[in-house]
Amino acid sequence: MTPETARDKLIVALDLPGVAQAREMVAVLGDSVSFYKIGMELVYAGGLPLARELAGAGKKVFLDLKLHDIPNTVARATAQVAEMGATFLTVHAYPQTMRAARSALGGSNLKILAVTVMTSYDDSDLAAAGYAYGVKELVARRAVQALEAGVHGLILSPEEAPDMRALLGPDMLLVTPGVRPAGADIGDQKRVMTPARAIANGANHLVVGRPITQSPDPRAAALAILAEIAGA
Ligand code: C5P
Repeated sequence: MTPETARDKLIVALDLPGVAQAREMVAVLGDSVSFYKIGMELVYAGGLPLARELAGAGKKVFLDLKLHDIPNTVARATAQVAEMGATFLTVHAYPQTMRAARSALGGSNLKILAVTVMTSYDDSDLAAAGYAYGVKELVARRAVQALEAGVHGLILSPEEAPDMRALLGPDMLLVTPGVRPAGADIGDQKRVMTPARAIANGANHLVVGRPITQSPDPRAAALAILAEIAGA
């Protein structure tokens, strides 16, 4: 794997309280990182102009907005994100929502990633919310619906990647958080995998936050993970 290919596989989650801290982190990481995830916390603290700025500076941007609304609203919001120059956008894996997002890409390079079932949900949470399926069944059902809706990828844990690759074929992008280098603090993640194993399991991109952003030397931490990806 070339260094560029490895770099494109690493997405650093900018889970930081403000734009100033995020901008500082991007400066520290420099050319070691080319792909950033901006989620709801930062978006609601002024992160959208930063997303535009990063895209304008040649970085790839993953806007983790988890859209879900009526199709017209989802389509119009997706078109706005496409216009910002983002590379990935998340939506919840409801068929209407996925189709609406997919229909609104125009000539942009934006790719839609579907979130099947939040990892904080277990079978009893789904039952309480009125679903007739357990987590495993609902994930598989929504994954197939994602394929049918033509979305580009799924967010999933690295443990689910082999089954999903078998179910969905080679073209679906599999993007996995819950990645920890050997020996790293796992924080609140419950099921973690090393970068090399996640790649071997079929992940196309890894989302890594705290092992890099909370490291005393974020750039060295990113470079170590890139070396592991490249060697996978
Ligand atoms: O700091 P850490 O590496 O755990 O960050 C992982 C990122 O991936 C966070 O932005 C988190 O919100 C996100 N994420 C996750 N698990 C999911 C979905 C998203 O950790 N199931």
